[in-house]
Amino acid sequence: MSFNTFGHLFRVTTWGESHGPALGCTVDGCPPGVAVDEASIQQWLDLRKPGTSKYVTQRREPDQVRILSGVFEGQTTGTPIQLMIENTDQRSKDYGEIKNQFRPGHADYTYFTKYGIRDYRGGGRSSARETAARVAAGGIARAVLAEMLPGARVRGALVQMGERHVDRERWDWDQVSQNPFWCPDPVAATEWETYLDGIRKDHDSVGAVVEVVATGIPAGLGAPVYAKLDTDLAAAMMSINAVKGVEIGDGFASAALRGSDNADEIRMGDDLVEWTVQSAGVTESGVYTAEISRTDGRIERCYLEAHQVEFVCENSDGSVTVHLLRDELERRKVENRGLDIIRSGEPVFGSNHAGGILGGISSGQDLVVRFAVKPTSSILTPRQSIDRFGKEVEIVTKGRHDPCVGIRAVPVGEAMAACVILDHLLLHRGQVGENRGVLG
Ligand SMILES: Cc1cc2nc3c(=O)[nH]c(=O)nc-3n(C[C@H](O)[C@H](O)[C@H](O)COP(=O)(O)O)c2cc1C
Repeated sequence: MSFNTFGHLFRVTTWGESHGPALGCTVDGCPPGVAVDEASIQQWLDLRKPGTSKYVTQRREPDQVRILSGVFEGQTTGTPIQLMIENTDQRSKDYGEIKNQFRPGHADYTYFTKYGIRDYRGGGRSSARETAARVAAGGIARAVLAEMLPGARVRGALVQMGERHVDRERWDWDQVSQNPFWCPDPVAATEWETYLDGIRKDHDSVGAVVEVVATGIPAGLGAPVYAKLDTDLAAAMMSINAVKGVEIGDGFASAALRGSDNADEIRMGDDLVEWTVQSAGVTESGVYTAEISRTDGRIERCYLEAHQVEFVCENSDGSVTVHLLRDELERRKVENRGLDIIRSGEPVFGSNHAGGILGGISSGQDLVVRFAVKPTSSILTPRQSIDRFGKEVEIVTKGRHDPCVGIRAVPVGEAMAACVILDHLLLHRGQVGENRGVLG
């Protein structure tokens, strides 16, 4: 089997099968001197691992990562990093019945016709257990990004489950870790519990849409024409099991827009924009939030990392003032009675229909990529299929499966985005270094 590798400079090769002794990845091209240990990778794997809630597969895999090479005394050495995750809860007998049968919606038939042999235990190499290795590689990418681009943040959320959408007006990143669905809308998250219970009782499953947003990514990343940032992001997301569609920014919806709506207008950032901070606070994870209403009527929520904030104080009238550190102040100033965005010499976009990418190159806006995940194919409802002898059979897939695999695809999407962004950061550094177009 060829093509187990992705990335140009930050290259990730995954290996292993669902029911083999272990799986993992080799990460090549990682810069040296980056602080990495097993715990820093494990935190991301814990978000993807099975059995974390009643809405995901009850397979009990600790997904404990081991670093076998490429890290010495807590730092990357620049040599290939080998990561291994042991499979400990395989129940291959669950799959004995379908040894010679092709499960609908799975890769059984296509693997068999291509290779003439297939590992039927849990789908073998086609199993989404492989995505654990991607999340581990993403942990390395995040560690490098934290050093090279400290302001960068890659986050994912489930924005649609079946036909149920989130209400974007209620979007709150803090909610994502507060429910089992990675849902940014607390109302939708509650509704989805009953919805998914019903789907499961019907012995069925549903699809989902995942949105990954990367903030703090500088303008200039991307290698046109054949390694556009959007090309690589789309390929990375499309390579995740069960993904059937990918869009950047407004994606397919942009086909219905007019040019006058779609093209994101640019103006110079030293224009004064009037904002009013309605409330501000600090989240459990130490991120400061400010609810701001703009003079153009839009309400936005801004997020500030702890390192950008000097202190927050509550005023006697109940309003809140967020004092930013000096560096950050030069970029923007947040006050309870108005927020001025002062980005001298930097352009400001009026909207982000493009998802932060123009001509395959990042614009400095948030990178926004969404992907559609198909419904879980392994369901208890009988389905028509054939076996390897050409006989028609009826299949009921037993074993432990997610009723909505989109849920566990969120950390996988985040990991793939982190790998692609770092890959392009390294490519950019390699080709143009500090060189860049300067306005004025
Ligand atoms: C995190 C994750 C977990 C998955 N778990 C299951 C599962 O439990 N049962 C299932 O039928 N499919 C599951 N899938 C999807 C299958 O792996 C996928 O549909 C199958 O390999 C065929 O590949 P394709 O859908 O990309 O064509 C999962 C996908 C992801 C991303």
